[in-house]
Amino acid sequence: MNKQAEELLYQALETELGGEQVYQTAIRCAQNSELKEEWQKYLEETQNHQRIVLQVFDSLGLDANRETPGRQVVRHLGESIVKAMEMALQSAPGESAELVAAECVVLAETKDHLNWELIGELAKSLKGEEARPLKEAHGEVEDQEDEHLYHTMGWSRELWIQALGMPAVLPPPEEAKEVKTAIGAARAHQSWKDML
Ligand SMILES: [Fe+2]
Ligand SMILES: [Fe+2]
Repeated sequence: MNKQAEELLYQALETELGGEQVYQTAIRCAQNSELKEEWQKYLEETQNHQRIVLQVFDSLGLDANRETPGRQVVRHLGESIVKAMEMALQSAPGESAELVAAECVVLAETKDHLNWELIGELAKSLKGEEARPLKEAHGEVEDQEDEHLYHTMGWSRELWIQALGMPAVLPPPEEAKEVKTAIGAARAHQSWKDML
């Protein structure tokens, strides 16, 4: 595996570690009980993703404690996202902090989703023994990352619509339709008016 492939795995590990902190803070911001429950589930899945990435490191003989410049950037972004939610909790608790948290989860999950999409592509391009752990890990995680991103995007949009005083669909259509692709999310978004 080349250096950039290793870098992707280090960034993926750091994203999952930061993701745990992001969800712990986001859950404190959540007002809607279904959203809180959803994020609780995503938190547990994120902790499981950490274990899955660490298994990949084991199989490939990589040192999970090694620092890389890219990994440090990912950690900095994660910490900044947590700090943004802490700010909101202090200065604008309640529904305003919930809106901030939904946007923060979307930011964090955009990176998480990209990492796993790339790990999937990498697994397809590699051959033999190196590909297997990546393929297995990707198979376990992929669908969950789609939910983390697309469903939270839906929550973020609908919570904003509600805050603006317009009729919102809660939980969002992405959740009701169990969206797992970008096309599915666009379709769910388009059909939200029918659900009102
Ligand atoms: Fe994840
Ligand atoms: Fe995720």
